[in-house]
Amino acid sequence: MGGVVGLGVLLITAWGGDSVARAHSPTAPAGVQGDTLVGVVELRGDPESDDPVMRGAYLARAGNCVTCHTEEDAAEELFLAGGKPIETPFGVFYGTNITSNPEHGIGDWSEEDFARAMREGRAPDGSHYYPSFPYAAFTKMTDSDISDLYAFLREVPGVDRENIPHDIPWYAGFRGSLALWKMMNFEEGRFEPDPDRDEQWNRGAYLTRAVTHCAECHSPRTLSGGIDEGLRYAGTSDGPDGGSVPNITPHETGIGGWSARHLVRYLEFGMDPDGDFAGGSMADVISEGTSYLTGEDLAAIVDYLSSLDPIENEID
Ligand code: HEC
Ligand code: HEC
Repeated sequence: MGGVVGLGVLLITAWGGDSVARAHSPTAPAGVQGDTLVGVVELRGDPESDDPVMRGAYLARAGNCVTCHTEEDAAEELFLAGGKPIETPFGVFYGTNITSNPEHGIGDWSEEDFARAMREGRAPDGSHYYPSFPYAAFTKMTDSDISDLYAFLREVPGVDRENIPHDIPWYAGFRGSLALWKMMNFEEGRFEPDPDRDEQWNRGAYLTRAVTHCAECHSPRTLSGGIDEGLRYAGTSDGPDGGSVPNITPHETGIGGWSARHLVRYLEFGMDPDGDFAGGSMADVISEGTSYLTGEDLAAIVDYLSSLDPIENEID
């Protein structure tokens, strides 16, 4: 990592630059021309739209597909064309090309192939994906959301760009060993709404757990690389990119002192209650992800987070 100062500078440029201007501009005009969607990069998406492509575009932001599958500062033509390095304690993974290119992207995938990847973490040939692709969360998405994402990705112009091989140690190179990881740490399944809670809470729980996968970064891991369930959302000093990730449970060692308004503002603009801006990977999560969410969805996520059990865990 380039250090906090470096990240701060990066963030300020990102903030002043077009990523956020784009995020907060009204939906750019988009239209279908031939097979490709014009303005797909600017597409903000809309969860209430009648058009599955618009609903899928919204989910592609919410799920941070854009963050991990688009190289930073890449030309617009490289939208979702992969090459973004994702640093983890196990090495550097590269987000893949998920454009509609049939050779290097996923253009020749059926909807079943796509659903299997999202739900089971498996490629069309049956091999296992690394959990740096957060399918442990996406498995909980609804069938209709997965279908909308697929509809959107079909419209992403194909890019003829080969994937970059992951830079991981040889012993992690065997995808067969992932069967063991999955056995210990992965459970396929759908989100189950809690009938004792209201609609807003359930929407927030769904978005947080299945789509925006906050816990993937905000939780410590067990030795086998699964989320330490007792400390889910309680932060870790050994986060995905080696740095620390704060406790986001409502304890005083977490975000107990934040009001709902503070939290919404943070997820929307990246500003914390002290007026400081988010850094590190959270800056990307916000600028390419949560800043695109509707006010109702942000309020729902905050409602859910505020209902978590407060866990004492001081993270430096
Ligand atoms: C934290 C980073 C990250 C996020 C967020 C993420 N992905 Fe990925 N994704 C990856 C990585 C890394 C791989 C490659 C995994 C492997 O090689 O085993 C991958 C693989 C995939 C694949 C398989 C592609 C192939 O070429 O075989 C699909 C499809 C996919 N992701 C779709 C999505 C969608 C849709 C979203 C958003 C809902 C998403 N990803 C969010 C990192 C991410
Ligand atoms: C890719 C990893 C990652 C994901 C996914 C992620 N976060 Fe974060 N989050 C971080 C990091 C790293 C920080 C520390 C940012 C900093 O140093 O400025 C952070 C900071 C925060 C903070 C500020 C806490 C504080 O005490 O300063 C909040 C609140 C937060 N995240 C909420 C969320 C929510 C809600 C989600 C899901 C919608 C989420 N995060 C998803 C990595 C992540």
